[in-house]
Amino acid sequence: MYSGLPVKIGRAAEGDTFEAAVLAGLARRPRAVPAKFLYDAQGSALFDAICELPEYYLTRTEIAILRDCVPDIAALAGPGRQLVEFGSGSSTKTRLLLDGLHKVAAYLPIDISVEHLEASSRRLRRDYPLLPVVPVYADYMDMPVLPWLPGAADAPRLGFFPGSTIGNLDRHEAREFLHNARRLLGRGGALVLGADLKKDPEMLHAAYNDSAGVTAAFSLNLLLRMNRELDANFDARAFAHDAFYNSGEGRIEIYIRSLCPQWVRVAGRPFFFDTGERIHTEYSYKYDLGDIDALSASAGFVRARTWTDPHRLFSVHYLTAAGDEPG
Ligand SMILES: C[S@@+](CC[C@H](N)C(=O)[O-])C[C@H]1O[C@@H](n2cnc3c(N)ncnc32)[C@H](O)[C@@H]1O
Repeated sequence: MYSGLPVKIGRAAEGDTFEAAVLAGLARRPRAVPAKFLYDAQGSALFDAICELPEYYLTRTEIAILRDCVPDIAALAGPGRQLVEFGSGSSTKTRLLLDGLHKVAAYLPIDISVEHLEASSRRLRRDYPLLPVVPVYADYMDMPVLPWLPGAADAPRLGFFPGSTIGNLDRHEAREFLHNARRLLGRGGALVLGADLKKDPEMLHAAYNDSAGVTAAFSLNLLLRMNRELDANFDARAFAHDAFYNSGEGRIEIYIRSLCPQWVRVAGRPFFFDTGERIHTEYSYKYDLGDIDALSASAGFVRARTWTDPHRLFSVHYLTAAGDEPG
């Protein structure tokens, strides 16, 4: 029925996207490379390692919340949904939904890290042999359509966007993402959204500056990816991971900082980095419930239910299309 190979949608699969983004991002000031390029096969494996770190409270807290609230989500969603996950990674949290929802019609994991997507989908097919798993290789910011699924075409869609991935989008992008997700999820669609909450800056700082240096390796892998794919000659030891909480903006800001004056060649072009010069790689916006309400409303969603942990570190929301009843 399904080939098992990822379905490509939009421009994610175009080979020159990374090169064009890097050359443009290094040429301008301030320098920046979009966060989605942190995720090649190595980046995805390093992100999985981050999820296991003691300082990275996000993953284990979200999993604990989901364990408790999946029965509520199942009751709200009703049976027979297509489950559509944006930025699915290893699809680990998804298993809680697959086990707890009633009669999932199909699972569509969407990710830009295509090898990781294929491997995760293979594992899911092995563990859920009766479930149609249709991986989608796409940039979720550039998704005009979802694949049409014979046999599940009429199943209403439930979106899943966990992992605080929404935090990587700035306010404008987050609204644009939700607006498009609402359209893709269609009539009767709903979205389960995991968002990290504002909290003690020291705890946030530790989560993005772990003592084992895994987050630093994840950041600096971007330079190694340029070496692998763009014939660049970065010496990753001459750069450092730089992450801090900007309380005014309510976000973690992550940069790669040059430790000395140096020339680097990328795809045949020379770039000079002075000591302290930075490349911006990622934001992680932190939310409160008022922010979620405002963002949801601006994209045509309503926050129907929210679940948090006892320490209010992380939040999971059930968003319905404005005008639709939950369920
Ligand atoms: C923070 S990780 C979350 C992974 C997983 N959902 C979880 O909760 O553990 C973000 C995931 O989104 C993917 N991703 C990042 N930007 C993307 C984009 N623009 N389009 C599609 N996938 C993207 C990454 O490859 C990665 O798997």
